Amino acid sequence: MDSAGAILVAILLLANRIGIKGEELSYNFYEKSCPQVEDIVRSGLGTIFLTDPTSPAALLRLMFHDCQVQGCDASILLDPLYGQGLSEMASTKNFGIRKRESISIIKSMVEAECPQQVSCADILILAARDAVAMSGGPRVTVPLGRRDSSVPRYELANAFLPAATIGVEGMLQTFTKKGMSIEESVAIMGADSLGVTLCLNIPNRVYESEGGEARRQDPRFEAFLNLNCPQGSLTSNVSFVPNDPTPFVFDNQYYMDSMGGHGLLRIDAELVLDPRTAKVAKYFATNQSDFFNAFSKAFVKLSFRCFGGKSRYY
Ligand code: HEM
Ligand SMILES: *[C@@H]1O[C@H](CO)[C@@H](O)[C@H](O)[C@H]1NC(C)=O
Ligand SMILES: *[C@@H]1O[C@H](CO)[C@@H](O)[C@H](O)[C@H]1NC(C)=O
Repeated sequence: MDSAGAILVAILLLANRIGIKGEELSYNFYEKSCPQVEDIVRSGLGTIFLTDPTSPAALLRLMFHDCQVQGCDASILLDPLYGQGLSEMASTKNFGIRKRESISIIKSMVEAECPQQVSCADILILAARDAVAMSGGPRVTVPLGRRDSSVPRYELANAFLPAATIGVEGMLQTFTKKGMSIEESVAIMGADSLGVTLCLNIPNRVYESEGGEARRQDPRFEAFLNLNCPQGSLTSNVSFVPNDPTPFVFDNQYYMDSMGGHGLLRIDAELVLDPRTAKVAKYFATNQSDFFNAFSKAFVKLSFRCFGGKSRYY
């Protein structure tokens, strides 16, 4: 290697060390600056969840849609300043995202006790973590220390948020980029056990997919959907159906529905049909504690923040 090359390598190594050291997440990040942060978030959420039982689902999806766009940096909360383009919320991929204001409410509660210490990005992760736990799911221990971004990324939201129509291939691409195994990718989809889907996002019996292979297997379920979401209805952007029969409980019902031919979206139906994912999905339908363990690991991988404005994962 010549000397210019050696200097370049040295600079890169140094920058790398400083960058990583400065932004490393840790499990005791607020130990000195705001030891009570997790308690404040939990008690703030208690009130919010009581007044609106649909909010845990909304906060879990909010976290996914923040983290998917240049890492978990709270950029989904930003309204653009002059010259910054559009907000991420302007992307049609973010249609139906709710409860962003809950994060501001909790942020002010945290500010009152620990001014200018805790990022919105960390509050968003803690809120999603508590949403899962308070709905009966596992309590995931998450590392903290994310920084907030100051610029929304409308184009990245369009590019990196999954379309409602993706199948197993697109889903695996999305999550293996975040370092998830196939088992963890199948587990993170179990998040769709909570909440609702707008009729607008619910396709016909045969999904508009390559080959139209995946279809719901149960005609009674199809009739239920047709009744609640008539094709061509003018209210399809406001009417919705529950994601599973227990939309307020975080459980493994999602996989049972998939097996029973009740998959709402294409991905929900395909999980038990594709040879890459079928075995794991069927196993999660029988063993909730293994599902919870895999989900917890996947959640931590989903929740990484970005390095100096760019996520490490794409
Ligand atoms: C890549 C695969 C995924 C696809 C294609 C997908 C798609 C969707 C769609 C279309 C909806 C309905 C939104 C609406 O109509 O308002 C939805 C809801 C939801 N998704 Fe996903 N999702 C995926 C992965 C995830 C992940 C990784 C999480 C969280 C970790 C998540 C959490 C949720 C939750 C909680 C809801 C219910 C939201 C509410 O009730 O407001 N999803 N998802
Ligand atoms: C739903 O669609 C109708 C008709 O296209 C439109 O007037 C209304 O603003 C939409 N509602 C939402 C919440 O986007
Ligand atoms: C689920 O798997 C765990 C091991 O990972 C095992 O201890 C437990 O008995 C299993 N539960 C059921 C219901 O099969």
